Amino acid sequence: MPAEQFKVLVTGSGGQLGAELARLSWPGNFQVACKARGELDIADRAAVGTEIQDGGYDLVVNAAAFTAVDRAESETQAALAANQLGPANLAQACGRVGAALIHISTDYVFDGAKTAPYLEDDTVSPLGAYGRSKEAGEGEVRRALRRHVILRTAWVYGVHGGNFVKTVLRLIGERGEVRIVADQHGSPTSSRDLGRAIVTIATRLAHDRERGAATPWGTYHCVNDGEASWHDFAVEIAALAGPWLGRTPRVVPISTSEYPTPAKRPANSRLDCAKLEGAFGIRLRPWREALAEVIEDLRREQAHTQREEAST
Ligand SMILES: NC(=O)c1ccc[n+]([C@@H]2O[C@H](COP(=O)([O-])OP(=O)(O)OC[C@H]3O[C@@H](n4cnc5c(N)ncnc54)[C@H](OP(=O)(O)O)[C@@H]3O)[C@@H](O)[C@H]2O)c1
Repeated sequence: MPAEQFKVLVTGSGGQLGAELARLSWPGNFQVACKARGELDIADRAAVGTEIQDGGYDLVVNAAAFTAVDRAESETQAALAANQLGPANLAQACGRVGAALIHISTDYVFDGAKTAPYLEDDTVSPLGAYGRSKEAGEGEVRRALRRHVILRTAWVYGVHGGNFVKTVLRLIGERGEVRIVADQHGSPTSSRDLGRAIVTIATRLAHDRERGAATPWGTYHCVNDGEASWHDFAVEIAALAGPWLGRTPRVVPISTSEYPTPAKRPANSRLDCAKLEGAFGIRLRPWREALAEVIEDLRREQAHTQREEAST
């Protein structure tokens, strides 16, 4: 018997993760609608209600968020609109039509004081306005909708959108030396790998629904395997991209106090992902492997652009 059709809505499809979800391959029985901010503002309660009611979705994946960590300190209302009100609107609308929700959250809900990787039920205590708005969003989802999966991730980068990898590549191109914070630790996470994990979870949700099986709803951590400081991350970017860019700059370790920012960031952002592996069989590959793939894609993309420019 062919698998039942499964309708998915992806919000925030103009962002790093959303763009990957729009490009990844989904199971053949899935019908996936991707909406960028201009097509669906998740802070607009009426628009969200209408979209989810009329779309007949089985699942919503919320990849929309206000992610400018420093700007959130001064643009608190905008951060709360996207990160608290938006998820509340989505969860409530999903509840009204019986849809499930995969909502993405962050390592920045933690204060970084723990010495080991964070577990899902460790106490949250965000250091800044961004983390507080994301914590509030998690709470809205849990309160409004039992059928949710909250995926906390960290240090996301990819081919689409702005991110640390692209900033480091630009700085390498401009200067002989980059200075990068070495006393904050986390796991660099490829937006494509995170997207693939979401497709795997969505596929499981569809199977569970079809078979009437129980789904392990709840909160999970999902990052690439292994850990690094921002400095380690930049050293690896430079090593991988140096031959392509024709220069290998010095990557100088500095302390957080030498690089003051409006928002405080956790010193320990490491997330323990064993719960995700146990429940969904998902373990992301080592972060260096994922980074090498993205650097290669960026190199190809640049070579393609240069060829196009040369031929016009
Ligand atoms: N980036 C990271 O390092 C990181 C780390 C941990 C967790 N996360 C989480 O991972 C998820 C995906 O992040 P990302 O890196 O893909 O972020 P991103 O590249 O900033 O993408 C977020 C997208 O959401 C859109 N958006 C903002 N407000 C919206 C609204 N009210 N309605 C609809 N769309 C809206 C943004 O549009 P505009 O650009 O037009 O505002 C953007 O296209 C987020 O939940 C984020 O909190 C990210």
